[in-house]
Amino acid sequence: MVKKNKVTLIEHPLISHKLTHIRKKGTSSKEFKEYLNEITRLMAYEVFKDIKLEEIKIETPISSTKGFVISEKVNLYPILRAGQGMVEGFSTIIPSARVGHIGMYRDEKTLKPVEYLFKYPKDTEKDTYNIIIDPMLATGGSAIAAIEKLKENGIKNLKFVALLGSQYAIDAITSKHPDVEIFIAAIDPKLNKKGYIVPGLGDAGDRIFGTK
Ligand code: PRP
Ligand code: URA
Repeated sequence: MVKKNKVTLIEHPLISHKLTHIRKKGTSSKEFKEYLNEITRLMAYEVFKDIKLEEIKIETPISSTKGFVISEKVNLYPILRAGQGMVEGFSTIIPSARVGHIGMYRDEKTLKPVEYLFKYPKDTEKDTYNIIIDPMLATGGSAIAAIEKLKENGIKNLKFVALLGSQYAIDAITSKHPDVEIFIAAIDPKLNKKGYIVPGLGDAGDRIFGTK
């Protein structure tokens, strides 16, 4: 059975506040990274809602009791470069998470993704908890290419976490990959002629790494 796409818009006053600061053009690269980190951690609360737990016995200083610990291996797949800006936030919550890198940039003229790196944990077990991360979903082309790359390599059961996207991108991913669950903090109305999200926040990679 093919699971139908579920798109979760994660709305919360703390996220709205921090996202507003991220969008502002005067926000420095240092602040941008800090806000992105904080938002990622807040989003993680919703994203990991269905992660599997196992029951274990523990001793408190007072008595024996049972508790629950995470039993799944988590793999994060940031799409470079901007996806790297969300790795720390997730890794703070799940320190054992492994990180596979998907190097991809969008050709400025065609807006099509160009792959330049793919490195992932090779000992991937059958039932890993896999999260692709990229703050931006504009045309959805990079996200779709990343999903296809992972599926070609036998990595299924995928979630996609983004900060900001267009409805166009969400519809494109949803129709091509209905099994991938999407989590996003805001959906903006349109793209401009250069394929940038409007109002958006500009080029996330450049703003994180200070390259423009
Ligand atoms: C940005 C962003 C996404 C992609 C989104 O990366 O981080 O990966 O564009 O656009 P799309 O949905 O139209 O594919 P970019 O290509 O600018 O590379 P960078 O992160 O290295 O700057
Ligand atoms: N990539 C970005 O970083 N920002 C956009 O608005 C579109 C693509």
